[in-house]
Amino acid sequence: MIIALDGPAASGKGTLARQLAAHFGLRHLDTGLTYRAVAAALLARGLPLGDEEVAISVARNLDLSNLDRNQLSTHEIGEVASRIAVLPGLREELVHIQRAFADQKPGAVLDGRDIGTVVCPDATAKLFITASPAARATRRTDELNGKGIPAKFDEILVDLERRDERDSTRKDSPLKPAENAHLLDTTEMDIDSAFRAAVDIIERARNSAGL
Ligand code: CDP
Ligand code: CDP
Repeated sequence: MIIALDGPAASGKGTLARQLAAHFGLRHLDTGLTYRAVAAALLARGLPLGDEEVAISVARNLDLSNLDRNQLSTHEIGEVASRIAVLPGLREELVHIQRAFADQKPGAVLDGRDIGTVVCPDATAKLFITASPAARATRRTDELNGKGIPAKFDEILVDLERRDERDSTRKDSPLKPAENAHLLDTTEMDIDSAFRAAVDIIERARNSAGL
C-alpha cells in the first residue's frame, strides 16, 4: 500500500503522513527533506545554487536515514530548497531515490508536492492537503517560535505565498492535485480531525482497490 500526500507549505501534510504511517504500519518519507538536505549541503559548502550537476552529485550522496527536520527547518533552507527544486536533473535524481523507498515492503506514506502526480502515480490513495494561507502561516509561525526560532506571522505569510507560487508555476512537476486525488481542506480542522478524515478516505480507497 502506498499513500501519497501532497499540498502547499505548512498545510499539515508532514504531521498527517507521520500519523498515517504509524496507524497503517507503513514507512514514511518526507520528500521535502530530500530537497532541503541538498539545499543545506550546498549552502554549508558554499557551492553554487544554480548548477544542476553539482546539485545532482550532492543528491546521489544523500542518506535517507539521516534526515532531521529540526536541522533543516530554517527559512533560508526552505527558500533555497524551492529554488533548486526547479532543476529537472535534480528532481529526476531525487524522484529515483524516493521511488526506491516507496517500492520497499510493506509500503509507505510519502508527502511532498508531486507524489500523486509524478513519484507514485499508482498510489493506493492520493490526498491533496490544503488550508488557507493565513491558517498555514499561523501554524508555521507557532511551530518555529515553539522551537525557539524567531518568526513573524507577516514575514512567514509572504515567504509561504512566494514559495507556493514558485512551486505551482514551475515547468517540471508543479504543485497540483493529481486527477484522482481527494482534496482535504484543513483550515478549520485540528490535527485529530484531519487525521480521522484522512483515515476515512484511505480506508475507502483501500477497499475499492481490494486490499
Ligand atoms: O515543510 P514545507 O511544506 O515548508 O516544505 P517542504 O515540504 O520541506 O519542501 C521544501 C521545498 O522543496 C518546497 O517548497 C518545494 O519547492 C520542494 N519540494 C518539491 O519540489 N517536491 C517535493 N516532493 C517536496 C518538496
Ligand atoms: O508538512 P507541512 O509543511 O505541510 O506541515 P506540518 O509540518 O505537518 O505542519 C505545520 C505545523 O502546523 C505543525 O506544527 C503542525 O503541528 C501544525 N498543524 C496544525 O496546527 N493543525 C493542522 N490541522 C495541521 C498541522
